[in-house]
Amino acid sequence: EEAAKIVLVEDSTKARAEKVKIGQLEAHRGSRVRVFGWVHRLRVQSQMTFITLRDGTGYLQLVLAGDLVKTLDAFDLVTECTIEVTGDLKQVPEGKTAPGGHELVADWWRMIGKAPTGVDAYASLFNEKSDLSVRQNLRHLDLRAETPAAIMKVRAAVLSAFRAVYSKHTVMEVTPPCIVQTSVEGGASLFKFNYYGQEAYLTQSSQLYLETCLPSLGDVFCVQESFRAENSHTRRHLAEYTHLEAELAFIDFKDLMDHIETMICEVVDMVLADPIAGKLVQELNPGFKAPARPFKRLDYKDAIAFLNEHDILFQDDDPAVPPRPHQIGDDIAEAAERKMTDMLNVPIFLMNFPKHLKSFYMKKIEGDEEFTESVDVLMPNVGEIVGGSMRISDIDELMEGYKREGIPSDPYYWFTDQRKYGTSEHGGYGLGVERFLAWLTNRWTVRECQLYGRWPGHAAP
Ligand code: 4AD
Repeated sequence: EEAAKIVLVEDSTKARAEKVKIGQLEAHRGSRVRVFGWVHRLRVQSQMTFITLRDGTGYLQLVLAGDLVKTLDAFDLVTECTIEVTGDLKQVPEGKTAPGGHELVADWWRMIGKAPTGVDAYASLFNEKSDLSVRQNLRHLDLRAETPAAIMKVRAAVLSAFRAVYSKHTVMEVTPPCIVQTSVEGGASLFKFNYYGQEAYLTQSSQLYLETCLPSLGDVFCVQESFRAENSHTRRHLAEYTHLEAELAFIDFKDLMDHIETMICEVVDMVLADPIAGKLVQELNPGFKAPARPFKRLDYKDAIAFLNEHDILFQDDDPAVPPRPHQIGDDIAEAAERKMTDMLNVPIFLMNFPKHLKSFYMKKIEGDEEFTESVDVLMPNVGEIVGGSMRISDIDELMEGYKREGIPSDPYYWFTDQRKYGTSEHGGYGLGVERFLAWLTNRWTVRECQLYGRWPGHAAP
């Protein structure tokens, strides 16, 4: 009989109350609505229970009172239960605040799914004593917390903004494969596997495939996972990351840098102008301002001089070798790069790296042939977020490049053909989406910026 009553009540409420997502509630103020969600926060008083409900689109304050808190299910109400609620949506009185500026005064509710009871069972999973690895192993539950969810929402806004800005600049999206048989950034960081008896790899970069699209599709971009088997346990290295790459035809080096700057600035402007994502960026990174244009352009050789002027030393891979001043030709290591970037504290185009530090495909600088038309974008707090270059357009120079790097040219026949069938000056870049987000949302590590993190030794959940 009790069950029948509940069904009746439910049927009648369904007829009268419209089902609305929390993020869309503003247009329904003053009416009766029906919402679904997870109990995000809960405060129980003798006659009343105050709940913050969460459904991914927003948070809603609601009040259960009277008979509604005297049911058996009401005793089991804890955070992370799922519930359905109907009631009147009222603007909060002057002087009070609530998410969205309104509050739901419930007249009916039902439990959909219980959660473990006990004093704050969900929150106690993540008490102060839990180190980062506890959070990481419970990522599936930690994602329900406000900060991780906020970062994922900004991430979605950033990806949409990139797509919108590329579309505006007539750069077309393509979807290259993840399974490949050629390396782009050197064999050392390839994940290898057996592919029907042949050796294959998880892609490090879709660059070479993007280059093959230029003659048929014009300027192109992709958003693709890249994989790096580097054993780098740093704040900014992942084993799998989201790689946003673009390739542009008939450009010169200056055009390439202007384009990268335009993309970054227009994407940031679009995200900041978004009513939800813009607010989240300000919450995560208070006082964040869009970077000023033009970005500082710093030649590699001047960067070496800067490091030496500021006593930032070169440390050999062998820790037994004492640190020494930098010399032209040295790789600028992550720590040195970060120090320099934080000192300058503006976005930097670090340009013209030595040829021997870079990949086979990079175009040499005319008249200074030991250096390349290459560029990294460095951001305060993160360092390198973009790596790009002009590409070799001459077939003989390309063959030399394979040779220099000890790469057999046969598997690259399709890439070499681009230089045989109507070559062009062209260039492109790859942007690490997690690094971009770590900069935008001021995170300590890129690991916080992935949905499910993948770094050395960590692949679950
Ligand atoms: O500098 P990288 O290795 O350049 C390339 O892969 C080029 N083929 C891209 C291109 O020109 N199309 O990587 C580009 C960017 C880096 O600037 C960084 O932001 C990100 O990819 N990245 C990583 N992010 C997280 N973890 C790693 N292990 C990363 N390696 C590179």
